[in-house]
Amino acid sequence: MSDDGRPAPGSYAASTSDYSTGEARPTERVASPYPTDDPILSRIGGTPLVDYPESGTGGDIALKLEMENPTGSMKDRIALGIIRELADDGRLAADDVVVEASSGNTAGAVSLVTNRLGYDSVLTTPAGTSAQKIGYVRSLGSEIVECPNVDSDDERHYRTTAKRIASERNGVWLDQYSNQLNPTVHYKWTGPELWEQAGGDVTHIVCPMGTGGTVSGIARYVTEQSSDVHVIGVDAQQSNISASFYGTDPGPYDTDVEGLGKGHELPTMWFQYVDEVRSVDDERAFVQTRRAAADHGVLVGGSTGAALAVARDVASDQPDARIVVIGCDGGEQYFDTIFDDSWMQERGYRTE
Ligand SMILES: Cc1ncc(COP(=O)(O)O)c(C=O)c1O
Repeated sequence: MSDDGRPAPGSYAASTSDYSTGEARPTERVASPYPTDDPILSRIGGTPLVDYPESGTGGDIALKLEMENPTGSMKDRIALGIIRELADDGRLAADDVVVEASSGNTAGAVSLVTNRLGYDSVLTTPAGTSAQKIGYVRSLGSEIVECPNVDSDDERHYRTTAKRIASERNGVWLDQYSNQLNPTVHYKWTGPELWEQAGGDVTHIVCPMGTGGTVSGIARYVTEQSSDVHVIGVDAQQSNISASFYGTDPGPYDTDVEGLGKGHELPTMWFQYVDEVRSVDDERAFVQTRRAAADHGVLVGGSTGAALAVARDVASDQPDARIVVIGCDGGEQYFDTIFDDSWMQERGYRTE
C-alpha cells in the first residue's frame, strides 16, 4: 500500500475503537442549545464524527460530517442559532425581514431556516454565484438580489446592499462577517457537541477558516475544557488570514477553494483561542478532496480537503495525535469544478 493510497480493507471497522477511548462514541444525538419541534430544523446539528484512517500516518484522524446538516453544511447551525438568539432577545420580530449577504453555504442555510420559521428573507449575492446556488435559494422562497462584483467600499457591493436593504425594509441583517453570534453559536453548539462525541480525547482540532466563526467558537469551548488541545485554523495559501494571525506582511489574495480565507482578519475571528493558522495551496486542497472521495468514499468540498491535508501532516509528525477535522460541506456542489478533470487541468492542477 502506498503512503498516500487507500486504507487497507477493514481499516474503518478496525479504527472505530481506535481513535477515542476505545469505547463506542455516543450514538444518540447530542443536545442542541436551540431545541425545536420542527421536524426539519431539528435535524440540524448532531452530525456524526467518523474515523478517517490515513495510511502511512501514525496519528488518528476523525472527520466531523457537517455536510449531514439539512442544507449540506455547518452554516445551518449559524442560520438557526443567530435567528433564534435574535428572536429570543427581541431584536428580531415575527414580521421582520431577514437579510443576509452570501455567495455560499450561508445563503441556502438562511433560506431554509427562514422558510421553516415563517420569516421573509432577502439574500444578496455577488456576481459569479452559481446558478445552482441561486436556484436553491429561490426555490425555498427567498428573494435574491444579485450584485455586481465590486470593491467592498462600493455601495453596490453585496454586503453594503444587504445592509441598505435591511435598513430600508425594517429588516435585520445577520452579517456573518462581523456578528459575534456567528462564533458564539459554534461555542454553544459545535464545540460541546464534538467534545462529547470524542469523549474529550482530542489533541488537535483542524478547521477551515472563512469568517472564522466555526473555528473560533469551537476553539474557545475546547480551550476552556483543556489547555492541551491545539487548535489549527486552515487558510488558503494566497490569503492573508495567516498574515494577520502572525503579524506578517500581506501578499496577494487569490484562491479557488470556496469557503476558505476571505483574505484578511475579521471580527468573527477570535484569534486568542486559536493556536496556529496553516496555509494550504489550492492544488493540495483539491488533491486531498479528490482522494477523500476516491480512497475513502467521503464526498467533501475543497475547504475540507485543505483541512484533511493539514490533518495528514499532523498525523505524520505526531503518532499520538487524536485529530478532529471539521468537514464543512459535501462534494456534490463541486462536480463541475474540483471533481472535473478538465476544470482542474485548465488551472494547472494535478488530477491524481
Ligand atoms: C465550504 C466552507 N468551508 C469553510 C467555511 C468557513 O467557515 P467559517 O465561515 O465558519 O470560518 C465556509 C464558510 O463560508 C464554507 O462555506
